[in-house]
Amino acid sequence: MSHDKHQGFFDSLAAEWDLMFTAEDLERLSHVVDKLVVTEGMDILDLGCGTGILFDLLRRRVGSSGMVTGVDFSIQMAQKAHRNFPFDNVSVVDADARNLPFAESTYDMAVSFAAFAHFSDKKRALSEIDRVLKPGAAFYILHLQSSLELAEEHNRIGGIVQDDKLPTADELREMFAASNFEQVHIEDNPGLYLAKAVNAK
Ligand SMILES: C[S@@+](CC[C@H](N)C(=O)[O-])C[C@H]1O[C@@H](n2cnc3c(N)ncnc32)[C@H](O)[C@@H]1O
Repeated sequence: MSHDKHQGFFDSLAAEWDLMFTAEDLERLSHVVDKLVVTEGMDILDLGCGTGILFDLLRRRVGSSGMVTGVDFSIQMAQKAHRNFPFDNVSVVDADARNLPFAESTYDMAVSFAAFAHFSDKKRALSEIDRVLKPGAAFYILHLQSSLELAEEHNRIGGIVQDDKLPTADELREMFAASNFEQVHIEDNPGLYLAKAVNAK
């Protein structure tokens, strides 16, 4: 698999990553997670989990009979996530979204918060997500910005993330269709990007 410079970039940010979130961000995120269909007992995959910002919101909803599995290819992020959330219903795996170390049809839902735009091979990641999701399971792409706000922010930051952006709605619909996803719904407004698709394999 080709080397991805994002790995080292996010490794270097892991130690300070949690300081970036304000109480307001967490409150907004909690309202966004309310929009996802998360029920007790679900096995959820959090792709590009970073230090685990979504874990508490998700693990409380799935309860002790469910599981939240975070995946990140930055070892520093994954280790921090593991330290931050030492709970029985949370596990963290250091892996690449392009090559997920999970069996077919394992998960009831997958989510990627503030990460999908950074995936260097989105088509391959989607085909892996298709493989590991159960039929009928949803995949959500979330950002607390519109696609335009996100592209502008990455452009301002520059360097490795300069050109990281979300696909256009048409591109994303095409990618989803090519990876067995249907019932695509895309919300792209200032302050919130939320795409949902249901696995139809
Ligand atoms: C902007 S951070 C967001 C982290 C976390 N979701 C949050 O909001 O705090 C993006 C994360 O995606 C991870 N990432 C990027 N490409 C990845 C890939 N191909 N496989 C796994 N993780 C990836 C990075 O290492 C980084 O931790």
